Amino acid sequence: MVPSIAGMDPRYFMHLMQDFKQGERYSTIMGRIAGGYGLLELREMARFFAGREWVPARVAAEADLVAAGATIHEEHCAECHEDAGRYQDKEIPRLAGQWPAYLLSQLLDYRTERVQMPQPDKMRNRLAKLSDADLAAVSAYYGQVDATKALAQDETANGDSH
Ligand code: HEC
Repeated sequence: MVPSIAGMDPRYFMHLMQDFKQGERYSTIMGRIAGGYGLLELREMARFFAGREWVPARVAAEADLVAAGATIHEEHCAECHEDAGRYQDKEIPRLAGQWPAYLLSQLLDYRTERVQMPQPDKMRNRLAKLSDADLAAVSAYYGQVDATKALAQDETANGDSH
């Protein structure tokens, strides 16, 4: 399952790659890949991806599923994943417009206690209360958000002036 990473906050990118590299984040292949690069090379990659335009997946989903996902988002996730999941900074990844299948696979891992996935305690506690169906609904919700609208704002968050 491959996420969309163009336009990713370079600071979050670095933090993610370091976690993979140091084995602090569960992965099947990313740990090995990240381990093969030095700090400078990772910084180069972070800059490269941050400079690319984010292309939202915009995967359409059934209205009922999206509505259920929107409710879960508001109640449990919006506090950190602001602006319908469009917000990103050095700690928070963007969810809006991400591939729903990728989000779901991540959420299942985040919710599983024995899988090592760095996350705030609050997020862990919220996820513990959600069923597989809830996670699928919220993934479908983020997947269909039109994330292009907030691009200018996101670029400010990146500290980029272009
Ligand atoms: C207290 C703040 C907070 C809350 C509440 C929260 N999150 Fe998160 N979320 C984060 C942070 C911080 C990360 C990044 C973790 C890391 O990789 O270090 C994250 C990461 C994620 C990711 C990984 C995205 C990716 O690209 O890998 C997903 C998916 C996600 N959150 C979904 C949710 C959902 C769904 C909810 C609500 C049920 C939720 N989060 C609630 C802060 C929060």
